[in-house]
Amino acid sequence: MKKIILLTVISFTFILFTIIVDKSNVKADKTFKIIPEKVSYYKNEYKSRYSQFAKKNPNLPMEDVITRVNIGLDNKYYTHTKISQHLNKIYILVNKYTFLPDNYIPNNLEFLDSTYSREGMSLVKVAKVNFEKMYEAAKKDGIKIRVMSSYRDYLYQIKLYNKYKQEDGEENADKYSARPGFSEHQTGLCVDIDNGVLPYDSFEKSNSYKWMLDNSYKYGFIERYPRDKEDITGYIYEAWHYRYVGKKIAKYIHDYGITFDEYYVRFIEKN
Ligand code: DAL
Ligand code: ZN
Repeated sequence: MKKIILLTVISFTFILFTIIVDKSNVKADKTFKIIPEKVSYYKNEYKSRYSQFAKKNPNLPMEDVITRVNIGLDNKYYTHTKISQHLNKIYILVNKYTFLPDNYIPNNLEFLDSTYSREGMSLVKVAKVNFEKMYEAAKKDGIKIRVMSSYRDYLYQIKLYNKYKQEDGEENADKYSARPGFSEHQTGLCVDIDNGVLPYDSFEKSNSYKWMLDNSYKYGFIERYPRDKEDITGYIYEAWHYRYVGKKIAKYIHDYGITFDEYYVRFIEKN
């Protein structure tokens, strides 16, 4: 009997001890700095880049240092570029470090209907179907959205970018126009929209913009180049440009207020 009591007391003390130690660890975790190697998207081969970037950006949380270096932002735009992975997937990334082959034409492109689009526009089918649902929902709420630009092939982007470069100079053009191969429009997953009244670059002032901010994620679309994120996306704020990424990713990006570039390196890119 004595033995049983002793064993019970020992076990109880052990359990109590484990709980106390565990709790103090949680406290310690909160007060200690984050351990970079424990971040799931940490890449050992970028170790020195992380520390250089952290030195240059002392106020940036460690997760953001890792995220930004993984995007490539410690290098100049259009340097150390890589070919896009996940061709024909809704979570494909295209930005100033990640490009599409010049002969890339997405599968399942379909023309858009003139009730909600300019003539001759097309999108990948899944983006088209969801845009149509979004258009109908907006219409029910008394809101108009209209597609002004959607899929653009490599050759079209050459013409567009060169036009802007001639008019505005390379440095300025690079702020708002992607170089050929680096435009998300070549994925067939994004749209530039207006409200049918104001020019597209005044979309920000419309009720349609407010509606899109509150609702587009429900149909899988995100604002791709938001305000105050220029240093991450590499482009000035574009209130009119929306990218289809599917509902799950769109909701996360909407809820957490991050960019697709950040989402991609954190959750999609493999180490
Ligand atoms: N305006 C966007 C960034 C593009 O040219 O694809
Ligand atoms: Zn666009």
